[in-house]
Amino acid sequence: MIEKFSTLYDFDETQSEYLNLIYEVIEKRKRGDKPVAFIRTYGCQQNVADGDRIKGMLSKAGFEFDDKPDDADFILFNTCAVREHAEDRIFGNVGALKNIKAKHPDTLIALCGCMMEQKHIAERMYKSFPYVGLVFGTHALHQFPELLYRSLTTGKRVYVRDNDDSLVHEGIPVKRDGMIKGFVPIMYGCNNFCTYCIVPYVRGRERSRNKDIVISEARELIESGYKDITLLGQNVNSYGKTLPGRPSFAELIGEIDSIDGDYWLRFMTSHPKDCTKELIDTIASSRHISKHLHLPFQSGSDRVLKLMNRHYDRKKYLDIINYAKNTIEDVSLTSDVIVGFPGETYEDFKETLSLIKEVEYTSLFTFIYSPRVGTPAASIDDPIPASEKSKWFRELLDVQEEIASKRCKKMLGSTVKVLVEEEKGRDGILNCRTSGNIIVEAPGDKSLVGSFRNVEITDSGNWILKGKIKE
Ligand code: SAH
Ligand code: SF4
Ligand code: F3S
Repeated sequence: MIEKFSTLYDFDETQSEYLNLIYEVIEKRKRGDKPVAFIRTYGCQQNVADGDRIKGMLSKAGFEFDDKPDDADFILFNTCAVREHAEDRIFGNVGALKNIKAKHPDTLIALCGCMMEQKHIAERMYKSFPYVGLVFGTHALHQFPELLYRSLTTGKRVYVRDNDDSLVHEGIPVKRDGMIKGFVPIMYGCNNFCTYCIVPYVRGRERSRNKDIVISEARELIESGYKDITLLGQNVNSYGKTLPGRPSFAELIGEIDSIDGDYWLRFMTSHPKDCTKELIDTIASSRHISKHLHLPFQSGSDRVLKLMNRHYDRKKYLDIINYAKNTIEDVSLTSDVIVGFPGETYEDFKETLSLIKEVEYTSLFTFIYSPRVGTPAASIDDPIPASEKSKWFRELLDVQEEIASKRCKKMLGSTVKVLVEEEKGRDGILNCRTSGNIIVEAPGDKSLVGSFRNVEITDSGNWILKGKIKE
């Protein structure tokens, strides 16, 4: 077998040069004292990480950022295609930009991200919104400076979709929001083709970043004081398959964990079919990896799991969960679940409910199935009406709420380590997070933001806890 490795490709001088040229153009064109960009990112952390890179490039080109689009010289929507609801919101929000463009014709409006990798959507956007000047897909991120320069200088609309999956682009400038949480992508794309999911079509084939580069990016974050670092991939367990020597994910995270410092290390997402005991052992014996496993099960019914092309069954899933429960002290488990997959019956759904009751998750990301054009599930017969699926969904939420609330109550009176993340509003309440990913609200001074503290749990709700910071 000939192994095909990802090619490393550096953010080259040409793109850096475009950033300088953009600076010269935008300096003359800006409305205020400084060129301003408004970037809105939808979807998962992978998109957030891409947004951080776009901000990094714009920052090098002299832009500042605003969280309102009204005064921006450049407006960009970084889109998500995972469910219809996400797409509808974006159509609505791009529609609303028409007034801004009418008032300020020099404002450049752009769209990028996963929706733009679907030809029919990108074309519909391009046609429906003539005031959108630049459209590019996830594969064209590294060419952003050149594309932006072209649209600013030619006045012509630019539309680029590329799909070269063999390259991994390194060296793109990054600008993260805040100094506490940092995302580090370790791989791109997905090869799993779960039958409901659009991600493999919009993000392309799986490719891993070089291990040394990932480790040095994590080290840089740790050394500059980041406290909560998340390694990102659609299926982190298959990290390394496109790299020489095939380093495993357990190896990678183990090496990062050995970096000294005061930080938590997280990762997402782990696919149950590839989640190894080695990884769970690594978490258990680590110094920094949070005692939290996000392991999406999607359905509790073996019949539905097969239709979903998930490559595990209920028994295999529960075996990993039980191994994690027995190996990682006080492990916090979270998951994703889909209700109303085409052909799912109420009997299948009851299997999902029983799995939730058996595992007792800390929290769940719950979704009603949304058909995605071009995926196999979209052509499976789907006789259950939406109103019925909503009823099942409600039932599932009730079950999970009871479990979460019981779990929270168990923590009353205990003392837990938290990371103070932000001040909530301006009333002296701090939002903190446990290693297991539960929010704890506690009164305190905002100077504590960014530090680890011990909190005594004094009150519990359905999802969040309240507590008192102990010195
Ligand atoms: N790679 C990750 C998840 C990516 S998408 C994983 O495999 O776990 C995040 C979640 O969105 C999925 O876990 C799934 O629960 C949900 N999802 C994806 N496609 C969906 C669809 N068509 N309808 C409803 N939910 C969907
Ligand atoms: Fe989608 Fe499945 Fe890939 Fe996750 S593993 S991104 S659900 S295809
Ligand atoms: Fe959405 Fe793309 Fe992530 S479709 S969920 S932003 S990979």
